[in-house]
Amino acid sequence: MPTLPASSIPDFLYGTAWKEERTAALTELALRLGFRGIDTANQRRHYFEAGVGEALTTAYRAGIVTRDNLFLQTKFTYQRGQDHRLPYDPAATLSVQVKQSLASSLDHLGTDHVDSYLLHGPSANDEWTDADSQVWEAMRMERDAGRTRLLGVSNVSLEHLQRMATVCAELPAFVQNRCYARLGWDRAVRLFCQEHKIIYQGFSLLTANREALHHPLIASLAASANGTPAQVVFRFARAIGILPLTGTSEALHMEQDLASRKVTLPAEAVAAIERLAG
Ligand SMILES: NC(=O)c1ccc[n+]([C@@H]2O[C@H](COP(=O)([O-])OP(=O)(O)OC[C@H]3O[C@@H](n4cnc5c(N)ncnc54)[C@H](OP(=O)(O)O)[C@@H]3O)[C@@H](O)[C@H]2O)c1
Repeated sequence: MPTLPASSIPDFLYGTAWKEERTAALTELALRLGFRGIDTANQRRHYFEAGVGEALTTAYRAGIVTRDNLFLQTKFTYQRGQDHRLPYDPAATLSVQVKQSLASSLDHLGTDHVDSYLLHGPSANDEWTDADSQVWEAMRMERDAGRTRLLGVSNVSLEHLQRMATVCAELPAFVQNRCYARLGWDRAVRLFCQEHKIIYQGFSLLTANREALHHPLIASLAASANGTPAQVVFRFARAIGILPLTGTSEALHMEQDLASRKVTLPAEAVAAIERLAG
């Protein structure tokens, strides 16, 4: 399987969901300010992937970045997660839908390959189905044809991953999940990922964890590091092996999120945050 050296997987991903007509401008701003990993999806209901493509064109022309030093990630979304603006023929087989969706993503993003292609979510909440295996197989074929370097799955439980390990020929390179502090920051899934050398991507680190964000421990760590609670959470996430996403629309927050790399967090503090809520 083609792999990327770890150094070419950025340590922060900029998320482009829910930005609609601001997608191009905000993605360009994120690139200008230093993000090199972009997360999107061919799911017009929540993402404007063509707007991401526009930002890339502008950024290439302005000399901000080249395709080679960018990490682009997009997703295949089942029809039930879409609105009427489908990137594939819903009457086609799932394998054809994957092919059509990725071809449309490459067109939106103006590239011949993405770096990571995710299954946006399995077809059922509590089980890995035959449909999921078919989609995964189609994604593997796209990868083997060079249209993505790596593959992943999103919105998965430990049970999904365990079943996948039993029935699929290959496990993902990435898992992308909403990361709840009350679940020990998705501890069970993170441990599975660690055991299987899967990179865990965490989203909603701030929005799903408002209580943790306002906890006195985080406040005092932020104060002693001369940073913000959000920076402590992102720095903590990285310390426990999470590749974080941020979807901020504010330039200042983009800068602060990237600067979280430099926040000092003692090992005892990392352990305490990990146990903060679950
Ligand atoms: N796979 C999936 O199903 C899935 C689902 C959801 C999201 N995602 C991906 O993950 C990305 C991020 O989504 P998300 O849910 O983590 O975030 P989000 O909903 O886009 O929002 C992040 C929130 O945190 C705030 N924020 C960010 N940095 C901050 C800072 N330094 N200080 C204070 N507030 C800060 C933002 O406010 P400001 O805008 O004011 O900064 C915003 O309210 C999405 O864009 C998408 O790419 C994937």
